[in-house]
Amino acid sequence: MASAAVTICTHSSSKIPDFPVGADGRPVPAMGVGTSTYPPVAEDVVRAAVLSALELGYRHLDTAALYGSERVVGEAVAEATRRGIVASRKEVFVTTKLWCTQCYPDLVLPSLRESLQNLEMDYVDLYLVHWPMTTKPSKPHFPIKREDIMPIDLSGVWRAMEECHRLGLARMIGVSNFTTKKLQELLAIAKIPPAISLRWINEQGASMVVKGLKRERLKENMEIFDWELTDEDRVKINQILQHKKVTVLGILFLEGVYSMDISEADIVEMCSFCRRHAETVG
Ligand SMILES: NC(=O)c1ccc[n+]([C@@H]2O[C@H](COP(=O)([O-])OP(=O)(O)OC[C@H]3O[C@@H](n4cnc5c(N)ncnc54)[C@H](OP(=O)(O)O)[C@@H]3O)[C@@H](O)[C@H]2O)c1
Repeated sequence: MASAAVTICTHSSSKIPDFPVGADGRPVPAMGVGTSTYPPVAEDVVRAAVLSALELGYRHLDTAALYGSERVVGEAVAEATRRGIVASRKEVFVTTKLWCTQCYPDLVLPSLRESLQNLEMDYVDLYLVHWPMTTKPSKPHFPIKREDIMPIDLSGVWRAMEECHRLGLARMIGVSNFTTKKLQELLAIAKIPPAISLRWINEQGASMVVKGLKRERLKENMEIFDWELTDEDRVKINQILQHKKVTVLGILFLEGVYSMDISEADIVEMCSFCRRHAETVG
């Protein structure tokens, strides 16, 4: 399963490999633990799951202003440090995200500072723009009213993200849920290009985040690093028609009217193999 680009973590006993990244970023563990729960569960449950994950050897934690889990993630890392499960906060790769209600150039830095306060940390390893969308400023919430959606000032927001990086508060900056079109817009203006994140398969050479509140499942998920797909499996999987889907509808209230055209925020993409396959089979 490991590709040539993968190195095994040297900073812990974890068997989860690291993916090296650019010159100024630290390696990203190939698998992280998600902390989004919907409907929300008790904080104690999330804190215990994160602590279990750290005990098992996970070193990548995924949180967000929206998830309401930043505080418990910070507490779990502090507890793990006290107990000697991790040598220090530096051993853990922490990602958090800017929610749509804060997606304004002048709110990016204060939002990151608030997240850092929740986490009780001096920096995050990765700060992501959660969605390429801006809504009326307020506390992070979900679902979003359609009429509250406004066009995003992508250039201004990304400049502010770059400032977070420059100040050392975010070691890396990136985006999630961006369509190819939005990414192209961003790449055209970015001085620091974004790290694209979440849920890619290890064999495709990207880091992924899994969520599991049960320790035995967290353990089971790490076992993917113990075996490889056979060539036959790879051929079969490659033949499955794959769509990449990014849909904004899941984070909106069903009622209401759009205050802007959001059609470009929903996209279904096919990989080139699948496109050829679809053309062949008609
Ligand atoms: N950037 C974004 O917009 C975005 C979007 C979606 C997700 N995420 C991140 O990615 C994380 C994962 O999201 P997701 O949508 O993939 O997860 P999910 O569907 O919310 O949760 C995973 C489910 O799989 C179960 N599970 C975990 N390991 C299992 C195993 N070995 N066997 C059987 N069931 C298992 C979990 O059960 P238990 O919890 O009961 O163990 C849970 O019900 C989130 O927590 C979040 O951090 C980010």
